[in-house]
Amino acid sequence: MDETLRMYWELYNELCPNELMIHKNHNLLRNFEDEFIEGPILELGCGQSSFLVEYSKKGKEIFAIDNEDFQLNLLKKRIELYAGKEAGKLHLLNITIPKKEIPKEIFSLVIMFDFLHFFTLEDCSKIIDQIASRTQKGSLIYIKAHSKSHSYFKSPNPGMHQYYKHFFSETDLSRLFDNKNFERIMISDTVQSVRSKFSRELEIKWHESVLDEHQVFDSQDREEELKSTKEESNIGYLECIYRRK
Ligand SMILES: C[S@@+](CC[C@H](N)C(=O)[O-])C[C@H]1O[C@@H](n2cnc3c(N)ncnc32)[C@H](O)[C@@H]1O
Repeated sequence: MDETLRMYWELYNELCPNELMIHKNHNLLRNFEDEFIEGPILELGCGQSSFLVEYSKKGKEIFAIDNEDFQLNLLKKRIELYAGKEAGKLHLLNITIPKKEIPKEIFSLVIMFDFLHFFTLEDCSKIIDQIASRTQKGSLIYIKAHSKSHSYFKSPNPGMHQYYKHFFSETDLSRLFDNKNFERIMISDTVQSVRSKFSRELEIKWHESVLDEHQVFDSQDREEELKSTKEESNIGYLECIYRRK
């Protein structure tokens, strides 16, 4: 992760305490919480996961995977603060997916939120094969990934497509989560065209600290640089919940 992204997540940590983070996260799993089966929870690319913080109070064992130690450390602090002694055993694993294998447990819930779009479809398929072998009948899988309605999908900037390797359609997801192994219990196709005040202000504050870091202090230059951050564009994403057959 480059230094500017790290600055984003540190600012997020500072401005978004646990209760606010959980309140702001629209969590489609809430409809199915009373159907969670026994077993640990896994999140890939967990960052400072709102889900893992919220579910840490359930006392379930948690496997939090990310390839950035600083994110795992911030998550640990969040869980300690939120659940204290109520938290189940927490495994913080610095693993780069898909280079390294996912732990060989049988999970009750697997979360991949804003994660799969960093991989090609071929790599996504390898990741989901591993998930199929680490879940059992009744396990839930919750994913959210950028869709083809995202404004970045049409970006002429090749760097954008190196960073976000795939923008998903419903068909892509149906192929990845084949109905031999997975029953789709929910799909939501969202296009958000205006950010919340909180997100907009967070992004502007982040961009301002990046400009400070790069010593861009001329007000006209700063205004020019901030122009695109202040503009709204479509954020398109698909969310699905699958149940393992
Ligand atoms: C967009 S953030 C999403 C964080 C969290 N899931 C959320 O929704 O707030 C993506 C996270 O995935 C991690 N990540 C990116 N590529 C990864 C990889 N190949 N293996 C493991 N973690 C990765 C990043 O460090 C980052 O914390």
